[in-house]
Amino acid sequence: MDETSRNRRFEVLFDNAEPSPIEDDAYAPYGNFGFPPPPAGRPWVYSNFVQSLDGITTLLGKHGSGGDISQSRDDRWLMDLLRANADGIVTGMNTLLEEQRLRGPQSRGIIFQVADPALRELRTKLGKSRERNIFVTRAADLDLSRHKVFDGDVVDAAILTSPAGAERLRAQNIHSHIVVIAAGNKEELDLRLGICKLREELGVQYLLCEGGPTLYGSLARADLVDEKFMTVSPIEVGQAVPPEQERLATEPSTGILMRPTVFGGTGFTLENITHWTWMSCRKAGDHQFNRYRRKGRG
Ligand SMILES: NC(=O)c1ccc[n+]([C@@H]2O[C@H](COP(=O)([O-])OP(=O)(O)OC[C@H]3O[C@@H](n4cnc5c(N)ncnc54)[C@H](OP(=O)(O)O)[C@@H]3O)[C@@H](O)[C@H]2O)c1
Repeated sequence: MDETSRNRRFEVLFDNAEPSPIEDDAYAPYGNFGFPPPPAGRPWVYSNFVQSLDGITTLLGKHGSGGDISQSRDDRWLMDLLRANADGIVTGMNTLLEEQRLRGPQSRGIIFQVADPALRELRTKLGKSRERNIFVTRAADLDLSRHKVFDGDVVDAAILTSPAGAERLRAQNIHSHIVVIAAGNKEELDLRLGICKLREELGVQYLLCEGGPTLYGSLARADLVDEKFMTVSPIEVGQAVPPEQERLATEPSTGILMRPTVFGGTGFTLENITHWTWMSCRKAGDHQFNRYRRKGRG
């Protein structure tokens, strides 16, 4: 066994993606990892989700995080690899709020950043600037001081919102290191324009979307997801929340509560579904790590 195979954490079943941008040992656990050049005028957008065998992304309730579905250190490591190659990580505001809520009332939330030291180093070698967290929100009643990610000491933070949302945020006297990007008309966010502005105003060439389903659905409907990294976790959870699962104050107390798949909101008809090319597949234990590239609609 050569040195590279010994370091490999993932068994490569097939891989048709581009070669890694540089030769570096940090890629060894995964193997080949490259992207095409970004399209003109906007970043290359790639998403990362973990789902159960039956396609569920969160159990909801007290165990609502993606980590409860993933249950895999390899998946956590892959998330770091994807982050190391990104100029920005974008999430819907609810993913930040949920992570904070799961940590209890005293928590000031989380910061989405690369944890693995070798992958932090890789990021530097790739010439990436400071890590950046970007949140999509209507900013109806958002208090930025409640979230440590907006303190500015660890990562740069940006908010993508409607013109009216931007006005509300600016009225909060926000820190100068938080960039607010407005796109659209009044309360309406124009997501495509906003994503283009991330390239134009912040120089984001590769944008990693870490969810959740509502944001992913919005991006997918706007044809803005170029690639999907999809981990399939070897668990089956069912879609309807069982009656014995405790409901949170933020969840409806009665009635059927459905756990979401990756794609939130209105979907497509048979005539305009999105088609994808299966780019690569890896295995680590009983987890499956897939990569898909968007072919087009219809
Ligand atoms: N399994 C996984 O890999 C994975 C990954 C990520 C998240 N999750 C789970 O998914 C859950 C959260 O997902 P979610 O779907 O509820 O929330 P989400 O997509 O993270 O956030 C939804 C919020 O984002 C903003 N938003 C999204 N699209 C928008 C648009 N087009 N225009 C304006 N605002 C927009 C809105 O914020 P405002 O309400 O502030 O206006 C909206 O309420 C959590 O339980 C999380 O743990 C799982």
